[in-house]
Amino acid sequence: MKALVYLGPGKKTLLDRPNPEIKEPTDAIVRITKTTICGTDLHILKGDVASCQPGRVLGHEGVGIVEQVGTAVTVFKPGDHVLISCVSACAKCEYCRRQMYSHCTAGGWILGNTIDGTQAEFVRTPFADTSLYRIPDGADEEALVMLSDILPTGFECGVLNGKIAPGNTLAIVGSGPIGLAALLTAQFYSPAEIIMIDLDDNRLDVAKRFGATATINSADGKALESIMKMTNQRGVDTAIEAVGIPATFELCQQIVAPGGVIANIGVHGKKVDLHLEQLWDRNISITTRLVDTVTIPMLLKTVEANKIDSKRLITHHFKLNEILQAYETFGSASKTRSLKVIIEP
Ligand SMILES: NC(=O)c1ccc[n+]([C@@H]2O[C@H](COP(=O)([O-])OP(=O)(O)OC[C@H]3O[C@@H](n4cnc5c(N)ncnc54)[C@H](O)[C@@H]3O)[C@@H](O)[C@H]2O)c1
Ligand SMILES: [Zn+2]
Ligand SMILES: [Zn+2]
Repeated sequence: MKALVYLGPGKKTLLDRPNPEIKEPTDAIVRITKTTICGTDLHILKGDVASCQPGRVLGHEGVGIVEQVGTAVTVFKPGDHVLISCVSACAKCEYCRRQMYSHCTAGGWILGNTIDGTQAEFVRTPFADTSLYRIPDGADEEALVMLSDILPTGFECGVLNGKIAPGNTLAIVGSGPIGLAALLTAQFYSPAEIIMIDLDDNRLDVAKRFGATATINSADGKALESIMKMTNQRGVDTAIEAVGIPATFELCQQIVAPGGVIANIGVHGKKVDLHLEQLWDRNISITTRLVDTVTIPMLLKTVEANKIDSKRLITHHFKLNEILQAYETFGSASKTRSLKVIIEP
């Protein structure tokens, strides 16, 4: 089969690889019909993710058709149409029993990280019964690819942890696919104000179309001033960090109102200062989370019911044999105006 293989920092290629085989009785083999590229794949290519070694097939998102199942798989059978979670869950360990699938002692985020992933014709999915989700007949596959990772990430790490409530004021720092996923799902709770912050005007335009009540291009270094002015010097009830650099987490600390929440989503590679000298008396909370994908079933229903249109995040389409071009397009988003790219056989 064809597969996109990571060859070490800065290097990747499309190779012929043997088809995956069932290794454990709980495995399934899925024929990929649609996959995509995540910002985290770009982190891997920069060499930021030490657990992902050269030779690995990348990709942790996708939908497909079950080709084969192990002897212990009871929920799915060959021919079933499924959505693949970016997190594999054994459903039995201490963390899975607490619905913290991301910390599953036998699984977690392993696909396209410590085991071969979905940017290929076929993938082996561990713990198939509890890591795959059935796609309803007639559902739009593309819309559902957004449910493998980015929609649950924006929703769980940003919206749920950020305790968004009706009438609240919310700021989302970072208007990439994850920040936009938080923007779409925050609207389940009717916040009064949603301020989106980014350096890219195109992404801020998209945010406006997706429901932002205000947008700020922070390139001039005046985001703090603008947000405080917009909120009558009060700040925001929830500040969602969706970039993953010190400057944006520091901005969140400056704009959070008394009683508010800073909900971090970004993957941070550098240390960030915590300003307790300013925050100690402000009754705030700071949350961090690796996406658990426990909300996939609920999000599936909202997409099915047209409560959110996750397809709006898709900007480009490629064939699997054009995947290097897809990486190029996704990796230069400010030039190509790309958000999520769909890759199909
Ligand atoms: N916690 C989790 O489980 C989890 C899961 C998936 C992704 N992530 C992380 O979420 C973050 C966002 O992911 P994404 O795919 O949307 O990434 P992305 O790189 O596509 O988007 C980041 C956005 O931030 C903007 N930005 C950069 N510097 C900025 C600054 N100084 N001020 C304001 N905006 C700035 C960029 O223009 C871009 O639009 C990444 O760090 C990613 O690794 C976390
Ligand atoms: Zn991802
Ligand atoms: Zn587990």
